[in-house]
Amino acid sequence: MSTLDSLGDVHGKSVLVRSDLNVPLSDGKIGDDGRIRASVPTIRELADAGARVVVMAHLGRPKGAPDPAYSLAPVAERLGELLGEPVAFAADTVGPRAHEVVEALAPGQVAVLENVRFDPGETSKDDGEREVFARRLAELGDAFVSDGFGVVHRKQASVYDVARLLPHAMGGLVAAEVAVLRRLTEHPDRPYAVVLGGSKVSDKLGVIDALLTKADRLLIGGGMVFTFLRAQGHDVGRSLLEEDQVEACRGYLAKAEQAGVRIVLPTDVRVADEVKEGSPLSVVPADQIPADGIGVDIGPASEELFAEALADARTVFWNGPMGVFEIDAFAGGTRAVARALTRVDGLTVVGGGDSAAAVRTLGFAESAFSHISTGGGASLEYLEGKHLPGLEVLEDQPGAAR
Ligand code: 3PG
Ligand code: MG
Repeated sequence: MSTLDSLGDVHGKSVLVRSDLNVPLSDGKIGDDGRIRASVPTIRELADAGARVVVMAHLGRPKGAPDPAYSLAPVAERLGELLGEPVAFAADTVGPRAHEVVEALAPGQVAVLENVRFDPGETSKDDGEREVFARRLAELGDAFVSDGFGVVHRKQASVYDVARLLPHAMGGLVAAEVAVLRRLTEHPDRPYAVVLGGSKVSDKLGVIDALLTKADRLLIGGGMVFTFLRAQGHDVGRSLLEEDQVEACRGYLAKAEQAGVRIVLPTDVRVADEVKEGSPLSVVPADQIPADGIGVDIGPASEELFAEALADARTVFWNGPMGVFEIDAFAGGTRAVARALTRVDGLTVVGGGDSAAAVRTLGFAESAFSHISTGGGASLEYLEGKHLPGLEVLEDQPGAAR
């Protein structure tokens, strides 16, 4: 796969860069800007080399039509602040505005196109429809750089199809992410512990299955833990529960036992009446969740248990918060796991938008972890052993014989 150098001299050339700038945004205000910051080095490198840099990105999941709530305008502005240079913004993706903005770029200048998902061709399942949009995007550039690691698992026009049309290279962010994931999958130092959280088991089925033969320990918290507790026969009150996944969880527990993988589940749970700041909170044993209670975090004994299960690990991958960390009273478990990772003597990787945002908003230094990934689903699918279309497509240049 090609790195930026393989593009040759880019001075004066228009280079389309796919970045993942999908950041939390509410009322036009950006929450954690980690993904924007992570995208800066590649953009800057190209601009410093005199390229006319055209950034393509998505925000949220608009329905294939312009929707001001998902405009990238505020993101383009933040990118400009981080670059320390003004960034032009095109109010459409491949229309007259995009062409105007791109044509006006001088060498070393940067533009951001409007949310590529405003065009139905971006996410279409129809190869032909995606290709039509990709061709229009490709008209805007002489070369393509794939740097949006968080979307490489998506077979979408600006991620996949454009790479089939233009000479392309892998950006430094994608290269760095892939290097870390390789270390997790090829001969990880052991013990290898994986911490999974987040709300849904159904999002993590494939990765749990794959990890049951690769990791030594699997620690489970977050909303998904209640489906596991249910699988063990416990009542979970009004906690998040995926009834249709109970059987799958039972299977994982059995498979883990057979494989000699230790599954660590919380022994106690913080329970609230409502998922709301200030709601009365109690700590109960994990097998005694009251009928009207909602589990919002792992409990203090579990924090210790989890920290202990991580203490001597040499490799840790963590995806998904342990509780509703956005509310400080429910952030204890997530904080405890983050702290435990900072004490590990080995490779520690935090993946997934929520956990990455959590460690930053909870005040941990990024340097306290080996790597904070910009990918959520992309990292999970990689660990699962899936083929990621956005990576595979980079293996051949357009027109090259296979
Ligand atoms: C993400 O936030 O997971 C990535 O930006 C990909 O977004 P998507 O899940 O909407 O495709
Ligand atoms: Mg996602």
